[in-house]
Amino acid sequence: MKYSKYSVVIIGSGAAGLYLAHRIATQKHLNDGVLVVTKSALNVSSSELAQGGIVAVLPEINKGDSISSHISDTIKAGCGLNDFNAVKHISQSSSCVIQDLINLGVKFDKTRDGKLSFALEAAHSIPRILHVKDATGRAIENVLIQKVRENDIIDIYEDTSAIELLVDDSNCAKGVIVYNRDADSYEAVYSNAVVIATGGIGQLYAHTTNPSVATGDGIALAYRAGAKVKNMEFVQFHPSALAVSNKTTMPLVSEAVRGAGAKLCDTKGNYFAKDFDTRGELAPRDIVARAIYTTMLKYGDDHVYLDISQMGIEYFRNRFPNIAKSCEDNGVDVSDGLIPVAPAAHYFMGGIETNIHAQTSIANLYAIGECACSGFHGANRLASNSLLECVVSAFELADLLSQKNLDAPKNFDEKVKTTLEKYVQDTEGICELEDVDIDDIKNKIKDIMWEGAGIIRSKSKLLEAKKKLGELDSVINSASCAHINECYEVKNMLVVSSLIVDCALKRESSIGAHFREDFNAAGDKEPAAGTTVNSNCGGVENGEVFTE
Ligand code: FAD
Ligand code: SIN
Repeated sequence: MKYSKYSVVIIGSGAAGLYLAHRIATQKHLNDGVLVVTKSALNVSSSELAQGGIVAVLPEINKGDSISSHISDTIKAGCGLNDFNAVKHISQSSSCVIQDLINLGVKFDKTRDGKLSFALEAAHSIPRILHVKDATGRAIENVLIQKVRENDIIDIYEDTSAIELLVDDSNCAKGVIVYNRDADSYEAVYSNAVVIATGGIGQLYAHTTNPSVATGDGIALAYRAGAKVKNMEFVQFHPSALAVSNKTTMPLVSEAVRGAGAKLCDTKGNYFAKDFDTRGELAPRDIVARAIYTTMLKYGDDHVYLDISQMGIEYFRNRFPNIAKSCEDNGVDVSDGLIPVAPAAHYFMGGIETNIHAQTSIANLYAIGECACSGFHGANRLASNSLLECVVSAFELADLLSQKNLDAPKNFDEKVKTTLEKYVQDTEGICELEDVDIDDIKNKIKDIMWEGAGIIRSKSKLLEAKKKLGELDSVINSASCAHINECYEVKNMLVVSSLIVDCALKRESSIGAHFREDFNAAGDKEPAAGTTVNSNCGGVENGEVFTE
C-alpha cells in the first residue's frame, strides 16, 4: 500500500469539490498541497450535466428581486423544513460567488443590450437564473477544471475511489483510504482536512438523470464512520427526463423548457398539468412529477409528452441546442413538436449533516455540495439552488480552512492503525468476485428503490423494499468480495438505500418530495428541523429519528 499526506484532501470533482480546490489553493500557503480524488474522469459529475442554470440573487441589477424573495421561495419549496440561517446565508452570499465565477471566466448568457439574462424556473417568483445556454454546468466545470489543472499545488487522482475514512478514537478525521482502479492498489492519504464532495444518489434508482458515479458513496462512508446524516427520505424526482429506455443516465429536458412555455400532454393529447395544480407546468417539481407519474399509470404508458410547438421549434433549437441534440441523438425528432418525457430520480435533499461552515459531526471532516445536508433545501429543492449551494459552501469552507493549521497529521492511534492494517494485508491478494454478480445486484437495488421508495410511497411498499434490500445485503456480506472497489460501491448503495427506506417509513406524512399515499397530508407535528440519523444510535427522540 502507498502512503501520502496532504493539507487538504477533497473527494469529488463536481462544482463543489473543484471550486473548493481552487479557492483554498489560491487563498493560503499549504505546506502539504491539495489532493482531488475522483472516481472517474475529472469531468464526470452531475455538475457537468447541469442545464437550467444557477440562482443569482442580484437585486442591484435584477429589479424586483430581493434576498427576502429568494429566501421565501426556497422555504416555500422546502415546505418549511429548511434551516432559516442556512437559507439566509446562502442567499446573501449569492452575489459574491456569482461575481467570482464571472471573474474566473464563466460567460453567462447576456441579453442583446449586454446585460445578464435571467431565466425563470418553476416556483421562483421572478426570473433569477443565470445560464450558459442549456449547458450551464459544463461551462462552470470547464473553467474550474482549467483552474485546478494549472495550479501546481493541486494533485489530481482520476479513476480513484475513496473507500474508507480514517477516523480516530476521539472522533477526529485523519485521512482516507483510496483505491486506484488502473494500478489496482490502495493508498492511505493522511490529512487534517478531509472534504466529502461526492454528489448525489440518483443511481440508487432505476430511472435517473444522474451520472453513473452518483451512488451515494460519500454519505455511506461518513455514516459508517459515525457521522450524522439527515433528511434521508427526501429524494427529488425531476418531472421531465427524456423517456429513452435502457440508459444508465436519462438525458434531462430542463425545467427551463417548461419555463419557456412548453406544455405537458398525455399520449391521448390532453393537457393535464392544470388538473393537478393551478400553477400547471410550473408548479413545484414534486407536484409536476407526481402529476406525470399518475397520468402514466392511468394509461399504462412509460411517458407523456412535452409540447414545444407553441414556443416555435426554431426558438427551441436555438435556446436549447444541447437538449435538441440529445433528443436527436436518441432518435426523437423535435420538429414534430412533441418530446417524450418521464420523471426520474434527480437530486438528494438529504445527506451528511453539516452546519453552514460545512462541518460534520466528526472533527476535521467536512461535506459540501449535494452529499451534504446543511438544511438549505428542506423537504424539496428549488430549481437551480443546487449549483448555488455548491459554490457558496465551497467558498465558505475555503475561508474556514484558511484560518487553520493544515499540516498533515503525523501520529495515529490504534483505531486508525487497525483500519490501515486491513488494507496492507489485502494488497497481497485482492480477491475475485466469483460468487456474486455485482451488476445484477445493482440493478435489483435500483428496481427495488424505484418501486418501493420512489415517487409515490406507502408503508407496504417500503416494508417490501426493506425486506428485499436486507436479502441483498446478506448476499453481499456472505460473498468473498470484502475489499474490491466494485463491492464497496454496491455496499454503499445498500447502506444509503436502507437509510432512505427507514427514514421514509418513519416519516408518516406527505411533505415536499416525500409522498406517502397512506398519509396524504403533512403531519400535525412535522419535526421542525428534519430527521437526523446516526449509525451509533437508535430510536426516535424529540422529532429526531435514529436508526435501530
Ligand atoms: P457532483 O457534481 O455530482 O460531483 C460529485 C463528484 O464526486 C464526481 O466527480 C464523482 O465522480 C465523485 N465521487 C463520487 N463518489 C466518489 C468516491 N467514492 N471517490 C471519489 N470520488 C467520488 N442544479 C442546479 O442548480 N442547476 C441546474 O441547472 C441543474 N441541472 C441538473 C441537471 C442534471 C442532469 C443533473 C443530474 C443535476 C442538475 N442539477 C442542477 C443538480 C446539480 O447539478 C448537482 O446537485 C450539483 O452539480 C452537485 O455538485 P457536487 O459537486 O455536489 O457533486
Ligand atoms: C433543470 O434544468 O431542469 C434542472 C435544474 C435543477 O435541477 O436545478
